[in-house]
Amino acid sequence: MVLVTNKEVLDAANDGGYAVGAFNINNMEITQAIISTASEMNAPVILAASQGAIEYAGIEYIEALAKTAAAITDVPVTLHLDHGTDFNVILQCIRHGFTSVMIDGSKLPFEDNLALTKKVVDVAHPCGLSVEAELGRLVGVEDQISVTEKEAVFTDPDEAVQFVEETDVDSLAIAIGSAHGIYKGEPKLDFERLEKIDKKVDIPLVLHGASGIPEDSIIRAVKLGINKINIDTELRLAFRDAVRKVVTESDVYDPRKICGPARDAIKEVVRYKIGIFGSENKA
Ligand code: 13P
Repeated sequence: MVLVTNKEVLDAANDGGYAVGAFNINNMEITQAIISTASEMNAPVILAASQGAIEYAGIEYIEALAKTAAAITDVPVTLHLDHGTDFNVILQCIRHGFTSVMIDGSKLPFEDNLALTKKVVDVAHPCGLSVEAELGRLVGVEDQISVTEKEAVFTDPDEAVQFVEETDVDSLAIAIGSAHGIYKGEPKLDFERLEKIDKKVDIPLVLHGASGIPEDSIIRAVKLGINKINIDTELRLAFRDAVRKVVTESDVYDPRKICGPARDAIKEVVRYKIGIFGSENKA
């Protein structure tokens, strides 16, 4: 298959009451782990590439990895820019086959976030890409973006309505208590707020910072209207732990014997997440 848009897979998830996993890719092994697991589980999947991933791998490699991944599987696959903050990177993504972009203006005042998001929608929609925006601000560090606890703000339901109406975005990332990176304590999601936003906003809602959120909270969030769930940190940890085990417990030096077990470890994380997101057999 060819890459499809986030709008296509997320509108179906919104109708069907499940969430699609958005897993961050940085290299071939991570991409392979995500695609082979999604294929085995017959699940739609979002390959998320951050600006940092694009800098690390090169946009041509990211494009080729995602297009190859989509070509060798029957499940719907999308290529999505995660946390785009640079308009030039958005334009590059449009030229390089991305099917969806996130514009993250969450650090800006409401009116400026709205204007920037509108500007991205105006260039992305005519080119056939879907657009995700963020309203509210998540604590933590995701690649090049860092937000302190003081700067974090939960999403206001009425502002969300106005924002979606005026920008025409296809999905909205909301801040309800999740955080990027590793949690210090037990994460507590504001389900009441999620319910209010979901009642007022028709488009698919997105949960960032989902690594480390307990299974019951994820299942409840999906029930209350979350349709896209972002996972990065748990993939990184699985990769790191598997590599560390191999290099400390043996003297192998073949990269395939180092990265192969990491790929297997990531597959296990993706399998578990797709299971609790409810997207198995939704391809
Ligand atoms: P985690 O750091 O919790 O994996 O969140 C990833 C994310 O939200 C990417 O946008």
